[in-house]
Amino acid sequence: MSNKKYQHIKTYHNDIALKLAHKMFGLEHLHYGYFEKGSPVTLEGLNKAQHTYVEKLIEMIPKEVKTILDVGCGTGGVAKQLVAKGYQVTCIAPDPYLIEKTLENTGGKVKTHTDLYENIQDFAPESFDLILMSESCQYIKPDPGWEQNKKVLKKGGYYLVADFFKIRPIDNPTVSKSGQPLDNFLERAEKANFKLLKQIDITPNVSPTMDLYQEILNVRLFPLLEAANEFITRKFPMIHKVFSYFLKEKITFLVERYKTQDAANWIKYKGYYIFLFQKTA
Ligand SMILES: C[S@@+](CC[C@H](N)C(=O)[O-])C[C@H]1O[C@@H](n2cnc3c(N)ncnc32)[C@H](O)[C@@H]1O
Repeated sequence: MSNKKYQHIKTYHNDIALKLAHKMFGLEHLHYGYFEKGSPVTLEGLNKAQHTYVEKLIEMIPKEVKTILDVGCGTGGVAKQLVAKGYQVTCIAPDPYLIEKTLENTGGKVKTHTDLYENIQDFAPESFDLILMSESCQYIKPDPGWEQNKKVLKKGGYYLVADFFKIRPIDNPTVSKSGQPLDNFLERAEKANFKLLKQIDITPNVSPTMDLYQEILNVRLFPLLEAANEFITRKFPMIHKVFSYFLKEKITFLVERYKTQDAANWIKYKGYYIFLFQKTA
């Protein structure tokens, strides 16, 4: 697939980070997981939390649902659990590596599309009982995304969304601006005639992942970058000078930003919700 297809640059960069996380930590899922109260905030704990999170999603699926469109399927961890429950699942991701892993993870028991959701033309209208977006809705362009939702979902079908949202303006420059404003998302849903049936706030169960993320950055990644920096300074001083000239400010900013992304700081600005909507018209 040519890179021209990746019109949404943020999505493309995001997929590189996701692949790295998948390869470095061997995680089957690419979401924050759901930590039960008191469960260990470790990589092993995250594996369990990710499994639990999918169980929570499955609990939200109405009984009559048979066909599911998993938009932004990551490496297929969620799809694997859905297939095990007997659902017919179609998976979408723009990156061929993620689709390959999804097919491996599900034993080839899902249909796949390697493209941006907004770009896919060949779905028959009203094909699915439920659209699932597990931590992917913030990457999809809102206008064509909602049009696609309206087109591919059966009348009376469901839209299940789990993600973090901005719950107030970000007034701290070192805090990441990622996530859509919550009120804006809910307004769009209403405009598209998607009725909100259920809303669950799982922020306290999801936010421990931010502490784990902090620990991994501080204990593993930053020391590695410091060592690489020292090595390049000594061995290739000219390259280091050029590199520093162009990138130092940006890197210092990013390090500052990621140092402040612990759970306590994150929940000041972000809320993590599971929403179940129904298409009413
Ligand atoms: C954070 S991951 C979540 C993966 C998976 N749903 C999970 O819960 O483990 C975000 C996913 O959204 C996908 N994605 C991003 N932009 C997309 C778009 N415009 N259309 C379809 N998928 C997209 C990425 O490729 C990635 O698979």
